[in-house]
Amino acid sequence: MENLRTDPRKPAFEGDAILASDDVIDLISEDHKPLKKLLEILKDDSLERSEREASLEEFVPLLLQHAKAEQESLYTKMKSYEHLRMHAFAGETEHAMAEELVQKLNATPDDDEWKAKLKVLAEAVEHHIREEEDEILPEVGREIDQMTRKEIGDEYQALKGDYSLLLQKPHVGPEWEPVIE
Ligand SMILES: [Fe+2]
Ligand SMILES: [Fe+2]
Repeated sequence: MENLRTDPRKPAFEGDAILASDDVIDLISEDHKPLKKLLEILKDDSLERSEREASLEEFVPLLLQHAKAEQESLYTKMKSYEHLRMHAFAGETEHAMAEELVQKLNATPDDDEWKAKLKVLAEAVEHHIREEEDEILPEVGREIDQMTRKEIGDEYQALKGDYSLLLQKPHVGPEWEPVIE
């Protein structure tokens, strides 16, 4: 009998690459990728402020859209699980600190002070993402069943749509004010 999985003409998992998962763990991990790439540029001390501002302009809206959607979907759900509650509150606090740092950055005319603040912001976000990927999301996988994770994933996607307004606003410069709380 022909076994399609071992047929050399057909890839074993044909189509897998284009079938996006709707599990919130996968959606969040995927959205961390561009943020991590931009963080590499933001952390690079050899680059001047003007060179990094373009990446920051890309980074901030992506970060805020992701963080707000993640917080209102996943973190909110995590609060009803005993083992996840503390992680949710800690994550929320870290999101708020990052947003505050972005605002401080925008109100900093001195280039060296700006670079120092950017470094703190980039390292804090990098640490936050690493902790989510290494500890929190695996624990979410153990505590929350797959069906519920998919429901949270749908909610996360819808919230990202709601917060897409953030993507249209300038985020770098002293005149920036967060448009959505
Ligand atoms: Fe987060
Ligand atoms: Fe995240």
